[in-house]
Amino acid sequence: MINQYIANKRSEDCADENWRPKYHFTAPTGWMNDPNGLIYFKGWYHLFYQYNPKHCDWASMHWGHAVSKDMVHWKDMPIALKPDKEYDNDPEGGCFSGCAVEKDGVLYIFYTASMSREGRLCQTQCLVTSKDGVHFEKYAGNPLISGRPVDALEPFRDPKVFAAAGKWYMVLGGSVKSRNPEGDGRVFLYESENLYEWDYKGAILESKGKLGTMMECPDLFELEGKWILTCSPMNHPEYNKALYCVGNMDFENGQYTIEKIGNLDVGFDYYAPQSFQDEHGNRVMIAWQNGWLWMPWCEDFGPTGTEGWRGTLSVPRVVSLNGENEVCLYPVSELASLEAETKQYCNYAVAAQKQYLYPGDGKSYRMELWIDVEKLRSRYLEIGILGEGDKAMVVAVDLVQKVVSLDKGQGDLFGRGRMNCPIEVRNGKLKLLLLVDCSTVEIYIDEGRYCITSNVYPEKKQTECWIRTPYKDAVIDKLKISSMTGFCE
Ligand code: FRU
Repeated sequence: MINQYIANKRSEDCADENWRPKYHFTAPTGWMNDPNGLIYFKGWYHLFYQYNPKHCDWASMHWGHAVSKDMVHWKDMPIALKPDKEYDNDPEGGCFSGCAVEKDGVLYIFYTASMSREGRLCQTQCLVTSKDGVHFEKYAGNPLISGRPVDALEPFRDPKVFAAAGKWYMVLGGSVKSRNPEGDGRVFLYESENLYEWDYKGAILESKGKLGTMMECPDLFELEGKWILTCSPMNHPEYNKALYCVGNMDFENGQYTIEKIGNLDVGFDYYAPQSFQDEHGNRVMIAWQNGWLWMPWCEDFGPTGTEGWRGTLSVPRVVSLNGENEVCLYPVSELASLEAETKQYCNYAVAAQKQYLYPGDGKSYRMELWIDVEKLRSRYLEIGILGEGDKAMVVAVDLVQKVVSLDKGQGDLFGRGRMNCPIEVRNGKLKLLLLVDCSTVEIYIDEGRYCITSNVYPEKKQTECWIRTPYKDAVIDKLKISSMTGFCE
């Protein structure tokens, strides 16, 4: 069924594009933000996304759609949802973010219908069903949830539904009145027996001035006996873009107790992640690799509009908990199917002069480093990516300051900035994985205990990849570098 609706291969025009990633998902044309409705349904992975097919700016939200057999090779499908009802048809609103669950062989999609009415935001929760994952029908009784909890302010959106303790639950992002005129962030919990009637259970996360003014795109799932709550806070005092909490959930009383709070990714561009279960039962997460203009470090959405597209999704990442109850994110193993030519070195000696590595076309590759702190006598490494002469994005591993950083000050046409990620080194070892893909860089430290994700906009000629250490000498235990093919190839 799905096969006959798959769009033809993306046009060959993409070949001239400089910034379009090859193995990260981008929309064929137009604007894209959050991933939505992620689900494995009847043998296919479905990826929906916030989409404006008409141009490269955010407006009138649709749900774009792609399918895959392995979460890596994506095929474009016709648009799934259009803002065409009186409750969602608004150029400044539309079909906002949401999720999908399966019940009795039917796909239930929940989304926020967003409208402005007389200058006020009106956000309600709506339902769409589909039997085949191709045709979508908006429920005649929409909106399902139109009122907000008492005290809740207008922003009230991004339903994520899941089954637990014999019932259905929904988390929703919102905000309540507070001394801060922008409000105080909340994650609200609703309960249902049948997916149609929903009862409010209470707020399971309250910012109280510490976590942000509005919690976008919340998610709640069980992992190794703990309940993980994630959300994307607006105006987090420490600029956390994608927050996670590890804790316990009491569904009976609608109460969540937090044991640990952390950052899913400290990079410039990792927002609105959503999780789902893959066909093997792993918890997998995909995020929008951009940010909004209200974020203090965001200047604009990058120059890719000149190529007719805007917005990238991170590669799917498996979510796990380490021994210290920290949430770790690491690319799914399926990504290995895109690895092409691989070079591997043991006891690789690094010196003050740049050593060039030449991975494939120099734009799309992965690089893995196993570091033994004792052998890295200089305690400092610089990896230059997407470089040309003096220009490059620089990943620095500083074992004295205990910081890994990504600096795009010397190589990015569009935006500058450096992101520092403080690290702890355990047992004298450090493992690094870098995913480079035309205009995106993802850095995973110690199997995803720390992640740094950022967009970068090099010039076309910037294809050099090098490594050096400015002082003394350094030996890297093992270095592996593979060029990557694109998912449409
Ligand atoms: C997050 C978000 C959501 C909203 C959507 C609109 O990036 O602001 O809260 O549903 O984008 O496109």
